[in-house]
Amino acid sequence: MPKVYTGEYTKIFDISGKKAVIVGGAGGFGEIIAEAYAANGADVIISSRREDALKEAQAKIQAKAAAGVKVKYFACDATKEEDVIKFRDYAVSADGLGGCDILVCAQGYNKKMYSWEIDSAVWNQILNTNITSVMYCCKYFGNWMKDNNVEGEKVDPATYQPGQPSANQGYGKIITFGSVRSVVAVRNGGMGNVPYNTTKGAIEMMTKALASDLRPNIQVNSIGPTITYTPMMVGLLPPDEATRDGIAKDLPAMRIGREIDVVGPALFLASAASDMVTGTTIFPDGGLVCTG
Ligand SMILES: NC(=O)c1ccc[n+]([C@@H]2O[C@H](COP(=O)([O-])OP(=O)(O)OC[C@H]3O[C@@H](n4cnc5c(N)ncnc54)[C@H](OP(=O)(O)O)[C@@H]3O)[C@@H](O)[C@H]2O)c1
Repeated sequence: MPKVYTGEYTKIFDISGKKAVIVGGAGGFGEIIAEAYAANGADVIISSRREDALKEAQAKIQAKAAAGVKVKYFACDATKEEDVIKFRDYAVSADGLGGCDILVCAQGYNKKMYSWEIDSAVWNQILNTNITSVMYCCKYFGNWMKDNNVEGEKVDPATYQPGQPSANQGYGKIITFGSVRSVVAVRNGGMGNVPYNTTKGAIEMMTKALASDLRPNIQVNSIGPTITYTPMMVGLLPPDEATRDGIAKDLPAMRIGREIDVVGPALFLASAASDMVTGTTIFPDGGLVCTG
């Protein structure tokens, strides 16, 4: 049955006690979302490939976490299906979080190449990181939620009919990372944005299709930030903050993004407040899309 929120107004944004999986959780956006979730009382597990970066992020997240919150990590390459299965199995085990209510896919990679110089190996790496790895995470965590976050009687997945949708209707929240580049190309050519923009357009549609596929109690939405000086953008943007903000001087917000700008949307999309919001994108973009 589709669920409807019947709780108190003051609890509608409450995520305390939830279990959140954050892929790319040692990156710019992933880590700040993990910090915000842990500070609001959710257990979190972060994942990416470099274990040293995960350990460092784990300590920072734990320092900001509410009392009693678990902060775990698991090193894995999300472009590899077998790695994602191992990660899912660990995350939902008693050694991990013991379940999963929220999945955030904040992994990503960008290498600028003009269309006339696209290197096939790099193109495939961008597609695998920005599209295929998101599909694997949604496949394994999304369907785990559908089969396990069930209120009342649960159907044994082993009894499913091939080709038929899951009989279970477990709940959950999935947040993907699109971009303003999911829907708007760069006006002046973009200095080699074709591969990255292609992947972000795919995330916009993957999010809509997953929202329909995982219905009715798993909401799948995307966050589409504007250009933000995260580790991904070091070397691609000027090092000086005022110069960077100058890039966006004509936009309504008159600045580029900060990592904190994704936290409000990430809390909303993880909480019951967004239970009727699915298959859409929130753009913390300072008005780039509406004026672009
Ligand atoms: N920064 C911006 O201007 C901007 C704007 C719009 C949208 N976005 C999107 O926001 C998301 C987060 O980006 P960010 O700016 O926070 O970048 P970031 O700081 O570089 O973080 C990206 C994270 O993804 C992880 N990652 C990369 N490849 C992976 C793989 N194969 N398996 C698992 N983890 C992997 C990285 O860790 P490892 O390298 O250790 O694996 C890192 O933790 C991305 O989807 C990006 O496209 C960014």
